Amino acid sequence: MPTAWTSRYAARTKAVRSSRIRELLKITQRPEVISFAGGLPAIDVFPIERFGEACRKVLANNSTAALQYGETEGYAPLREMIARHISRYGIKAQIENVMITSGSQQALDLIGKLFINPGDRILVEAPTYLGALQAFSMYGADYVSVPCDNDGLRTDLLEAPLRAGPKFMYVLPNFQNPGGTTLSVDRRHALVSLADKYGVPIIEDDPYGQLRYEGEHLPSLVVLDRENIRRDPTYTLGNVIYLSTFSKTLSPGLRLGWIVAPPDVIARLVLVKQGADLHTSTFAQAVAFEVARDNFLDEHVRKLRAVYRERRDAMLAALEEFFPPEVTWTHPQGGLFLWVTLPEAMDSNLLFEEALKQNVAFVPGDAFFAPNGDNIPRNCYMRLNFSNAAPDRIHEGIRRLSVAVKRQLQTLHLEPVAAS
Ligand SMILES: Cc1ncc(COP(=O)(O)O)c(C=O)c1O
Repeated sequence: MPTAWTSRYAARTKAVRSSRIRELLKITQRPEVISFAGGLPAIDVFPIERFGEACRKVLANNSTAALQYGETEGYAPLREMIARHISRYGIKAQIENVMITSGSQQALDLIGKLFINPGDRILVEAPTYLGALQAFSMYGADYVSVPCDNDGLRTDLLEAPLRAGPKFMYVLPNFQNPGGTTLSVDRRHALVSLADKYGVPIIEDDPYGQLRYEGEHLPSLVVLDRENIRRDPTYTLGNVIYLSTFSKTLSPGLRLGWIVAPPDVIARLVLVKQGADLHTSTFAQAVAFEVARDNFLDEHVRKLRAVYRERRDAMLAALEEFFPPEVTWTHPQGGLFLWVTLPEAMDSNLLFEEALKQNVAFVPGDAFFAPNGDNIPRNCYMRLNFSNAAPDRIHEGIRRLSVAVKRQLQTLHLEPVAAS
């Protein structure tokens, strides 16, 4: 029903698609549905007691700071903790390089607001994180998509799109959402060098980097960028802005993420953030600091790795057991997702309807591709989340999903595409 507002929506909001995942989550919350759709961390591993203690301590010892307005950059002890924490991975950030955001999602929005003019081209992976497309599209972004394979972004295909001068690249090197893939070391080196060669900076989004279940930690792009700066004095300073979050390691309900960037970028982002929310909840920041301190975060991450590794393995084993040979999937070394490739003639949106009849849900893959006219196929994929169901539910869910897949395959064989 139109209202007085209907004709007054700003033009920039018209390009934005509603998040399919949010819509789907509504359907998939029915208890009989086993959902592999959301990107939800497991509720049974939230450190509830530690949060309770932290809230009590914050209110007893630090209520003035925690309940008062705070600095836009964020709560200083938390920023310092983050700078210390990431320096273990070689990211040599000082407190001035760190700004706290209301989730990484806000970081993406602020970056869009700061950098994107209508019509600016952003280079993204195909597939990529849907929430980034939503954030950037709100500022009128156009996209150039570069495909990924099992080793992440195809850096061998980058030169031509980079020569066309996109504003920046948005890349997820670790356990990509949705692909579950990890950018290989060689490609990481190639990527930062190409970024510098063509003067196209990188937004490195890394919410899952700590959730590694096998293999060695790989250097992040921001670290390789800095190493290049040291090696080559002509290298441009600070080609990479790094994003991460507490959503997957502590709790997404906290809404706490952070940006690591050169100080001049942080200063600009502060102005942009002031217009959005003045600052991220001081109470949430003080509580997160109290929860994470004294190595609790490290211990907790170790526990998460064990729980999620088991769930990933359960999903891989069930796929092996139930899925037909026409279907393939990625083998994520970490994170929360894997990506299934169906035969090209299959449509994962139709499969989704069939899956719901079997009381199982996933996200059809087309939502994760930027809306541009390239020829990358997008209908034959599905994203499966493995963090939010216990191994026996995963086994049963994949069995149900395999029934839907086999039905669809049969339909295709009975009504061959050639006949249409
Ligand atoms: C790649 C990526 N970036 C950003 C986010 C947003 O995370 P946050 O909860 O910190 O806003 C997510 C959430 O799933 C994500 O997968």
